[in-house]
Amino acid sequence: APGSRIIGFGHYQPERVLTNDELSTMVDTSDEWIQTRTGIKTRHIAAETDTVSSMAIEAGRAALADAGIDPGEVDQVLVASTSATDRTPYAAGRVAVALGMNGPAPIDINTACSGFEFACAIADQSIRTGSARTSLVIASEKISGLVDWTDRSTCVLIGDGAGAAVVQAADEPGIGPVTWGSVPELVNAVLVDGDPQRFSQEGRSIYRWAITEAESHARAVVEKAGYSMDDIEVLAFHQANLRIVEPIAKALGGESKWVLRDVVESGNTSAASVPLGLSKAWHRGELPEGVPALLMGFGGGFAFAGQVVTT
Ligand code: ACO
Repeated sequence: APGSRIIGFGHYQPERVLTNDELSTMVDTSDEWIQTRTGIKTRHIAAETDTVSSMAIEAGRAALADAGIDPGEVDQVLVASTSATDRTPYAAGRVAVALGMNGPAPIDINTACSGFEFACAIADQSIRTGSARTSLVIASEKISGLVDWTDRSTCVLIGDGAGAAVVQAADEPGIGPVTWGSVPELVNAVLVDGDPQRFSQEGRSIYRWAITEAESHARAVVEKAGYSMDDIEVLAFHQANLRIVEPIAKALGGESKWVLRDVVESGNTSAASVPLGLSKAWHRGELPEGVPALLMGFGGGFAFAGQVVTT
């Protein structure tokens, strides 16, 4: 096919909402510190029964329903996650079976916070080269299972959830070329390691990279897609921190664009942050449709990826 398009979104968030005031009773922090430094007001936290796979299944089911696509039509399932616990069957394999698909190619990918953008690029390229026609692209994260709940420097930042998009072959391409890469000096800036596995990060170095480098990467994505920044009407960056999202958006003329700010409600959900936030806005009827949107993820690896998407 000449290209691919996103034809539907879905998401899942665990029921349990954790507020800043509640966190203040668990660790030495305050609503004021969290809001001033991160913009986060609430996050959803998975129940024991919520897993990366179960949340991926719910988000995937919702995206298929939104797109009006029968599970039997899906020939590729991609799940981006950095918090999946089972090595095999991995999440994409479980999603394919749980949704009653007809033997699609199941692929898990882990590029941490930029996982959704990498997965969209793989779906688009699979479709262009004829290896797939309909791809279900999901990002699902249960970072709450990886944080130290006594460490105030990380536990206040994160949230759980999943977002999904159905990507299908299209005559008029809706997913632009990906710009992706990594930053060698920051390879250890985000870690999920140890026994038990624990999430940690060099918050300051990531913050500095995002403030000084993300803008030029964003501009490169737009240029590669053949647009000028004025054409872009939606900015959807990885939702790590509102204090990162706002300056990048401002540098790119964000005052006159729709900017994703779901970190306020959902915290940092790693790979899931962009599709989760976009899906919520889409289903609320708030996401401008049919206009060029800039998607960009960055984080663990230290990887980044972005593309211009028109729904
Ligand atoms: N409540 C109260 N005080 C706190 C808290 C808290 N929850 N956490 C840290 N502090 C204190 C620190 O102890 C420190 O105190 P000190 O000055 O007495 O030593 C002070 O606040 C400042 O701490 P910093 O870590 O320097 O705070 P900073 O302003 O850098 O903000 C933050 C930290 C929010 C993590 C910021 O660096 C950031 O957002 N970085 C980017 C993170 C990111 O983008 N990660 C993405 C990849 S990982 C992923 O997405 C899963």
